[in-house]
Order: sequence, then structure tokens, then C-alpha cells
Amino acid sequence: MLLDFVLASLHHLCVFALFGVFLVELALLRPGIAGPNLTKLARYDAVYGGLAVAVIVVGIARVVFGLKGWDYYAANHSFWGKMLAFAVVGALSVPPSLRFARWRKALAADPAFAPPDAEVRSAKRIMHAEALFFALIPIFAAAMARGIG
Ligand code: HEM
Repeated sequence: MLLDFVLASLHHLCVFALFGVFLVELALLRPGIAGPNLTKLARYDAVYGGLAVAVIVVGIARVVFGLKGWDYYAANHSFWGKMLAFAVVGALSVPPSLRFARWRKALAADPAFAPPDAEVRSAKRIMHAEALFFALIPIFAAAMARGIG
């Protein structure tokens, strides 16, 4: 019971932190971004990656060591829906991350570097799609926790 409580608490903290960092990145990512904000964006993105790994590790620990056990989740479609939505969020986050890393390198080579507005806008569009799939995850989570699906 104690382990389940600790894992559930960690899961919520990691998930809220992940979404918070995601929102900070969205706020930073605007046409005209340059200099220190570009560095911040790349740093926040690295934190986002680390938190995503923490969510996966703690999530898997909940599936394996939680009160309900693997068999409960394996038979639940909402669990698989949640995993699929999480995988889509992860896949969508790759192109913006690669772009931020490239911009950071360009900034290191030329401190006056600013990414083209078109690239900033398309990265933002991808992150908006990411937000839509992110929103599905807690809905699937609430369903799977109640045996719906
Ligand atoms: C951004 C990603 C994620 C979000 C936003 C999220 C959100 C949530 C929320 C809100 C709950 C509580 C549901 C409730 O009690 O009503 C929950 C529970 C849970 N999550 Fe996640 N989760 C995420 C990723 C994951 C991953 C990757 C896994 C597993 C690999 C996972 C496994 C679980 C488990 C096992 C529970 C317990 C459900 C129960 O009480 O039976 N989660 N999640």
C-alpha cells in the first residue's frame, strides 16, 4: 500500500512537472526568439526529456508494483489507449527537439543567430498537436483506473 501511494504521488508530480515545462516551452517559442531565450528553450527541452523518462519509469513501476497488477492493465483498452496517446506525444516531440538542438548549435557558432519565423511557427504547430494528444492521456488514465474499457 505504501509503495503504491509513493509511486502514485511521484507519478502525479512528474506528470504535472512535465506539463508545466511543456507550457514554458510553448510560451518561449515565438517568432523572433533569439539569444538567451533560445538557450533557455533548449535547456527546458532537455528537462522535458528527463521528465518524460521519469514518467515512463514511474508509470511502469505502477503497472508492475501497483495494487492492481499487470493483468488488470493488460486487459484494459483504456490503458493501451493511454500508452498510444503517450507514444504519439513522444513521437511528435522529436522534430521540435531536434530543431531546438540545431538552433542552439547555430547560436553557439553565431550569437546573433535567430531561427527563421517559418521554422518557429511549424515547431509550434507540432507542439499544439502534441498538446491535443497530451489532453487525451488523463482522460484515458481516469477510465483505466476505474476499469472502463
Ligand atoms: C504524460 C503522461 C501521463 C499522464 C498525464 C498520466 C496521468 C495519470 C493520471 C491523471 C492518473 C490517475 C488516474 C486516476 O486515478 O483517476 C494516472 C494513473 C496511472 N498511470 Fe499515468 N500518466 C501518464 C503516463 C503513464 C505511463 C507512461 C504509464 C505506464 C507505463 C502510466 C501508468 C499509470 C498507472 C499504472 C496508473 C494507476 C491507475 C490506477 O489507479 O489503476 N502512466 N496517470
